[in-house]
Amino acid sequence: MPLVPPSESSDVPRRTRPIVAIDGPAGAGKSTLAAHLARRFGLLNLETGAMYRALALKAIENDLDFDEEAPLLALTRYTTITLESSREGNRVLLDRSDVTRRVREPDVTAGASRISVHPGVRAWMVARQRVLGGAGGVVMEGRDIGTAVFPDAEVKIFLDADPSVRGSRRYQQFPGNSPAAPTSEAVLQELKERDTRDRTRADSPLKPAVDAVLIDSTALTLEEVLERAETLVEAHLPSPLGPSR
Ligand code: DC
Repeated sequence: MPLVPPSESSDVPRRTRPIVAIDGPAGAGKSTLAAHLARRFGLLNLETGAMYRALALKAIENDLDFDEEAPLLALTRYTTITLESSREGNRVLLDRSDVTRRVREPDVTAGASRISVHPGVRAWMVARQRVLGGAGGVVMEGRDIGTAVFPDAEVKIFLDADPSVRGSRRYQQFPGNSPAAPTSEAVLQELKERDTRDRTRADSPLKPAVDAVLIDSTALTLEEVLERAETLVEAHLPSPLGPSR
């Protein structure tokens, strides 16, 4: 029997609004691009990294080892993570508490990358992400959206940039006079470690989907990146006469 892709099968309704998948390494500018596209085209913006971060935070609060999968999976059974899309990005609720700022701190950042190597944790996340985005009309940003969460996404963008450029962008995001601010070398080192872990894990490693459009932002201005991505999304918006595909 021939295999039928999900979007072509007769009993699954075709989405009338697209799923825009944006994948890429840390510091490539995915969040800025996702927030822009969501505003420009009236799409829901979902940052899936925030979900991994929220679970990592709960693991910290419960004194769990990031490297042990079974206790993390037990934790998921009584964990609720909610993403609220807003103009500035996602508000993150962990068991109804607002943890939006806390999940951006370095201990959570490192923990999120470490818990994300576990297949059971990924399966739990992916199931939720499919529910959140399955109806379409979303920009979903992460590492495996085009390869694993929505392989049938209408638009797939893989946004990349040289590590040194990503590191310096990340460094500039820290408040200038904060005594806790890390050095630029430490930021680059942390980013490279995270890159290696995200790209080499066995389950759904970070890599472009075969049909993703690669945008390397190393030598592009923000406007140029936004313009290229807008063109890709526009081609998949429903026209007044019906869906464009
Ligand atoms: O995008 P971010 O920096 O907030 O993601 C934090 C970590 O979560 C990242 O290092 C890897 C993991 N992650 C993932 O494995 N898959 C995703 N779809 C999103 C994030």
